[in-house]
Amino acid sequence: MASETSEGLLITAKSLKKMYGPHLALDDINLEIPPGAIGILGPNGAGKSTFFKCLLGLIKTTSGEGSVLGHDIRTEGDLIRSKIGYMPEYDSLDPGLTAIDQVRYSGELLGMNPDSATQRAHEVLQYVGLKDQRYRKIETFSTGMKQAAKLACALIHDPDILICDEPTNGLDQRAREFMLQTLKKTVSEGGRSVLMSSHVMDDVERVCDRIVMIHKGKIVVHRSIDEMVNQVEKEIEISVWGGASRMEQELSSIGLSVRRMGRNMRVTKVDEETYTNILSSAAKAKVQVRKMTDYEPDLEDIFLLIMDKLGEDVKETDDLITPRYTGEGP
Ligand SMILES: Nc1ncnc2c1ncn2[C@@H]1O[C@H](COP(=O)(O)OP(=O)(O)OP(=O)(O)O)[C@@H](O)[C@H]1O
Ligand SMILES: [Mg+2]
Repeated sequence: MASETSEGLLITAKSLKKMYGPHLALDDINLEIPPGAIGILGPNGAGKSTFFKCLLGLIKTTSGEGSVLGHDIRTEGDLIRSKIGYMPEYDSLDPGLTAIDQVRYSGELLGMNPDSATQRAHEVLQYVGLKDQRYRKIETFSTGMKQAAKLACALIHDPDILICDEPTNGLDQRAREFMLQTLKKTVSEGGRSVLMSSHVMDDVERVCDRIVMIHKGKIVVHRSIDEMVNQVEKEIEISVWGGASRMEQELSSIGLSVRRMGRNMRVTKVDEETYTNILSSAAKAKVQVRKMTDYEPDLEDIFLLIMDKLGEDVKETDDLITPRYTGEGP
């Protein structure tokens, strides 16, 4: 049964572990995710698909607890699956079926009666942009059309949650745009929750308001996108003429953190005085500052920074996205 603490939450996990034989695929996952649009990010083999399958009750967890919409993932898999639309990463379609039959069949498998499944199949195929192709066999579909058909199958029973495992995989720019728009619409107009996995921050940023980052089976970041953007260090980008190394030394000597980016340098902005400090360092180093602008990292930069830092010994999420000053803080 649902525990009281899981009420109102989309997903909870407590010390959740999944082993495939001796291989630890999910390592002590602890999460509380509110409804909304959540992006699950992580490199190949991180454990994204495994996490989805555990939530859906498709595979047995090794230990720990979890809930979806307050239902226990260990004992209420059927109920959970009736409320979730799942778009798997693998090709789950029957090439010999027409799109309309495939989608209707998915509905019937989920217990819908044939009439309402047929009616809904027409609606969802239109929603995913396949209205004109609905009587064509899946075997004639492009990758983009197949992904859209998979999405239609996931939406057939009007689920509360949509779980999409790499929905943009293999799509060209136009198909990708359409897929992301459709997922966004499902949240903003349909009021549903969406969980989507991706390797690419950009896809997630377009649809989601929260991010869960998995690395080697562990959750390394769980933040709202707004929090992430606000929390990350602000930098001042400068371009200097003559003696960049001297300039770097001067800045470091007064405790400012510097990153060399080719001809440019980014200096961590401690406070408003950082601008003055940069100019006086330049005077001391006898270099000319040709450009000085505020640099606001976008999410892709933050993602790369985090991935970069994962190679280091990181204990807390905060270590991943907060400044690494070399000197004294303000
Ligand atoms: N059925 C299985 N048997 C054994 N090991 C598995 C099985 N499924 C996944 N794994 C392993 O568990 C780890 C997590 O895999 P998972 O598929 O969840 O990663 P992922 O984040 O979805 O990766 P990708 O981005 O490549 O889809 C990987 O090391 C993978 O090799
Ligand atoms: Mg996967």
